[in-house]
Amino acid sequence: MEIKKVGVLGCGLMGSGIAQIAAQAGYETVVREVDDEVLKKGLKRIEDFLTKGVQKGKLTEAQMTEILDRLHGTTKLSDLASCDIIIEAVVENIEVKKQVFSELDGMCPEHTIFATNTSSLTVIEMAAATKRPDRFVGLHFFNPVPIMKLVEVVRTVSTSQETFDTAFAFAKSLGKEPIACKDRSGFVVNLLLVPYLLDAIRAVENGVASVEDIDKGMQLGCGYPMGPLTLLDFVGLDTTYYIANIMFEEYREAKYAPPPLLRKMVLAGLHGRKSGKGFYDYSTDPPKVTDLGL
Ligand code: 3HC
Repeated sequence: MEIKKVGVLGCGLMGSGIAQIAAQAGYETVVREVDDEVLKKGLKRIEDFLTKGVQKGKLTEAQMTEILDRLHGTTKLSDLASCDIIIEAVVENIEVKKQVFSELDGMCPEHTIFATNTSSLTVIEMAAATKRPDRFVGLHFFNPVPIMKLVEVVRTVSTSQETFDTAFAFAKSLGKEPIACKDRSGFVVNLLLVPYLLDAIRAVENGVASVEDIDKGMQLGCGYPMGPLTLLDFVGLDTTYYIANIMFEEYREAKYAPPPLLRKMVLAGLHGRKSGKGFYDYSTDPPKVTDLGL
């Protein structure tokens, strides 16, 4: 099946990145956000990234204009009705996701493939809310989407071979390296990454070392590009909290249980970089470690 037009649901951190790379890859792209302000912020994020790319000599100004011409922002769900594939990147909440897929199901032609960028829910839960479970896959991208090469392509018990192959080829056409995953909560990356990130929070709780030294330890000792607490701020503590709860609910294993410090920080609005403060305070450059009173 040929994909010409791409729809993206949500223009937050992940949605804007997905919309950007789709437009960059030459697809007509429509990105829908419920809130006009969030939409504007997301489109500006894309423009800023591309502008930096021009400054770095990664693309020309003419290419940037072409990319932005292919990208259309909207707040109307019906504007996605003519898309060949729709990738959902809304909040990690099963009810919200089911609702939006079920509405789209009634609007889109039969051939449209539905894909979810869920990090931790099982894909079949959403597919079952539509009349097209055979044309439903997981396409899990990584933050920052325009830079990270991986996409997890998830096949459920109902996904047809044709849909899986189309989605896999589509991920490649975006310049990504896809891997095939089973429909298990966390797929490959979060199954391994989430317990590691939660353990880093437990290490802070237990006073194993300072926030900076835990980060330095993993960065310099294992060659990771970011330490775990910096990465948590980058992914978002609220997002990590949602993911951990979903994975704990699914597996009932202690390694996925969100540590109390994570819950407290989320309740306090310390969501990481996006809120300006998490394990680090981003109001200064370089950021300083937040005093959590531990
Ligand atoms: N346009 C084009 N290219 C750009 C660019 C732009 N605006 N901005 C950066 N780049 C390119 C750079 O040129 C560079 O490429 P090069 O090596 O070919 O020159 C590359 O992107 C890296 O950029 P920088 O050198 O500016 O940045 P850093 O080296 O500091 O890397 C990082 C930043 C990529 C974020 C790195 O720190 C990293 O990999 N961190 C870990 C991120 C991670 O683990 N993400 C996964 C999170 S988990 C997740 O998302 C799953 C979810 O379900 C939770």
